[in-house]
Amino acid sequence: MEALITTNPDPILWVKNAVCGLGPYRTDLVETYWQWEQDPGLLVGYGRQAPESLEARTEGMAAQQLGSNIRFSIYDLTNHEKPVLAGVSTLLPDDSVRTAEFEIMLAPEARGRGLGATATKLTLDYAFHVSNLRMVWLKVLAPNKPAVRAYEGAGFRHAGVLRESGYWLGQVCDEVYMDALARDFDGPSAITPVPNLPTHP
Ligand SMILES: CC(C)(COP(=O)(O)OP(=O)(O)OC[C@H]1O[C@@H](n2cnc3c(N)ncnc32)[C@H](O)[C@@H]1OP(=O)(O)O)[C@@H](O)C(=O)NCCC(=O)NCCS
Repeated sequence: MEALITTNPDPILWVKNAVCGLGPYRTDLVETYWQWEQDPGLLVGYGRQAPESLEARTEGMAAQQLGSNIRFSIYDLTNHEKPVLAGVSTLLPDDSVRTAEFEIMLAPEARGRGLGATATKLTLDYAFHVSNLRMVWLKVLAPNKPAVRAYEGAGFRHAGVLRESGYWLGQVCDEVYMDALARDFDGPSAITPVPNLPTHP
């Protein structure tokens, strides 16, 4: 197995549970994110057809950091010694209707252990209880079964099918729409409010 990527010093974690945490999307990690994104399995999963240069990705990152999208680095917390960088999740909000599109990618070595479902649920938790979004949706290629299962496990429901709109390993395939409503979030929430300060007499 490839060595997992560790970051030093301890990264900032804004929200976490026993399995994973979400922290800032970081410009200094652009080369790591870029390496994950060029993995052919990920290109197929995202419906992309060609690798991107590091130069173009670095310019894109600068634009991303100035935009209004909500991006997180995902950390695996199951290694009890220190958080291990494991992926990225993103919310692309439409402020006029308080909804957002959801995207996620995990490092190849972080997949297949249940992290995807847990990180997706933690991102929904943030979306509903910090960003005050009322609905989050996503689009996934129908043959991407691990992704569909992970999204179902996080609380997304099937909302419809876009027929023959994508490609999977060279074959035409459908895309599945899924949605999650804030009112259906079944907790527990990892968001804790700042405790009340003692009142002075
Ligand atoms: C999609 C992704 C986030 C899922 O995360 P993950 O941690 O690997 O997924 P999990 O380990 O939580 O597994 C999800 C489920 O899929 C199931 N699964 C895995 N491979 C499967 C297959 N070939 N067929 C059917 N189910 C499969 C697992 O058993 C698990 O089911 P369970 O929850 O009922 O046990 C991750 O694989 C990833 O980053 N993939 C590359 C990028 C990508 O495709 N992103 C999605 C774009 S829309």
